[in-house]
Amino acid sequence: MRIGILNSGGDCPGLNAVIHGVVGAAHELGWETVGFKDGFEGLLPPGDFRFLEPKDTIGILKMGGTILGSTNKGHFAAKVGAGDVAEVPAEIVAKAKSTMDHLKIGALVIVGGDGSLTTGLQLFKAGWPVIGIPKTIDNDLSATAMTFGFDSAVTTVVDALDRLHTTAESHKRVMVLEVMGRHAGWIALWGGIAGGANVILLPEMPFSLEKVAAFIKERDSKGHHFTLVVVAEGAKMPGGELVSNHKATAGEIRLGGIGEQVADALETLTGKETRATTLGHLQRGGAPTAFDRILGMRFGVKAVKLAEQGKFGHMVSYQAYHVGSVTIEEAVNKLHLVDPEGEVVHAAKAVGICLGD
Ligand code: F6P
Repeated sequence: MRIGILNSGGDCPGLNAVIHGVVGAAHELGWETVGFKDGFEGLLPPGDFRFLEPKDTIGILKMGGTILGSTNKGHFAAKVGAGDVAEVPAEIVAKAKSTMDHLKIGALVIVGGDGSLTTGLQLFKAGWPVIGIPKTIDNDLSATAMTFGFDSAVTTVVDALDRLHTTAESHKRVMVLEVMGRHAGWIALWGGIAGGANVILLPEMPFSLEKVAAFIKERDSKGHHFTLVVVAEGAKMPGGELVSNHKATAGEIRLGGIGEQVADALETLTGKETRATTLGHLQRGGAPTAFDRILGMRFGVKAVKLAEQGKFGHMVSYQAYHVGSVTIEEAVNKLHLVDPEGEVVHAAKAVGICLGD
């Protein structure tokens, strides 16, 4: 038996832990592992791949990125615009399948987010032996309570806020930190709470800059002369617009820039010196936290188990401290968003954090 693995979409701390888990569990069963390079692209003839043995995974658990490479572009991109889904052309699927057949791959583990798993579902429906592993720092897939990479991203946000806190306080400034989170504000919400943010602005909750400004002035009047604001890149400016500082290209809109806009507006409205920082890909890079290493490794081992059981078309899923599985069909296209009336938002408000609503 040969099991294939590929990483598709944006990278994420913990991907190497998944590879470690797959290779180790496959080896235990006497199976060979084939790692495809740069996502699905590695499947295109003549095939770009390497055989992986346990000795090849020594020391990778602690490494960020992925030893296999990844891409969210190329021939297999399923998400081509806001909410639009494209089918991978039949001739591309057929070419990739010829590599699978040539290498006698009996199971293919696809590690990806919603877009890559949508491609995986198409391939499964075309008869491929697909197993999914959910991956996104945004933690926005509803079929799993947690994705690896999220905890690492939140940890980076907390570190940034700890640093911004000291300089904000020294200068009595408002500091705005823009974090990732395309559709869901989990990174902003968790990172903001843990990092002691005073204001958190989310994609799921329309906000008023006037209310945020009033909140900052009230803090000032109480002797708290600095304010930390966290804003998710996918939050919409009052008026309902997403913010992008980048040239429009094919595929999903590249977000970024809301931090600067919020900072400019707050400076005008409060008269306080305000600075913006965009954390960007620092949240995706670097070593995974212990939690993400363990979750990633468990996901990899579970994927091999699913392959052994012939549970193709299933995706590994984390629920209530247990790694189980759901069908990929159930998992894709269902985002897990922050509930504005939910317990975490309630907790944030209870400790005096302003959500701008
Ligand atoms: O989906 C994960 C994510 O990190 C989003 O939060 C962000 O909008 C996007 O990827 C960035 O992608 P890229 O690396 O292609 O700019």
